[in-house]
Amino acid sequence: MSKIHEALAPISWLEGRWSTTDGRGYYPNIPDFTYHEDLEFLCIGQPMYNFLSTSRHPEKQTPMHQERGFLRIKPGTNELSFVVSHNFGLTSLEEGLCETETHQVILETVNLSRISFAKPPFVKKIKRVFKLLSDDHLEATLYMETDTTPMSEHLKAVYKKIQ
Ligand code: HEM
Repeated sequence: MSKIHEALAPISWLEGRWSTTDGRGYYPNIPDFTYHEDLEFLCIGQPMYNFLSTSRHPEKQTPMHQERGFLRIKPGTNELSFVVSHNFGLTSLEEGLCETETHQVILETVNLSRISFAKPPFVKKIKRVFKLLSDDHLEATLYMETDTTPMSEHLKAVYKKIQ
């Protein structure tokens, strides 16, 4: 474990590298799918985690969705902001909080923007929950709304801590 900023104490349990043991995707109008994902929450001394998400096809090993961002905490509080860029041309500003007793982080979009040539359907909202299942197992659930589909679950994954 790297030395993390003291402001991150309420979410110290997120620190590190995580790799899926089970990654599943759903959405009303697409076939169910599985995926592999590596997550990284790394503190380099600031009151935030530098965040990376890299996912790939479980058999073909080809790259799928990717995210780069910063999960910041307002020092002395449990308030979070998550600035994320997605490789398909979306940026999301998500805000929320961490529940220290249940070891959960809950985030919802407060702003979304996309590149001029993004493909429809357009994402309208994202909600995600990270929940610590045990010392070395994490669960992530992601819901989204698009301009054609109401808020529905898109992803559910369980990760094991690898570092
Ligand atoms: C489809 C957004 C993460 C895999 C979609 C669609 C959207 C979307 C808008 C199109 C849905 C539709 O046609 O109605 C997002 C967002 C993500 C995310 C906002 C994260 C915040 C992921 C991840 C994976 C993934 C991590 C897997 C590694 C897929 C697949 C499809 C899909 C396989 C179906 C593609 C197709 O049928 O062409 N996603 N996605 N997504 N997503 Fe995601």
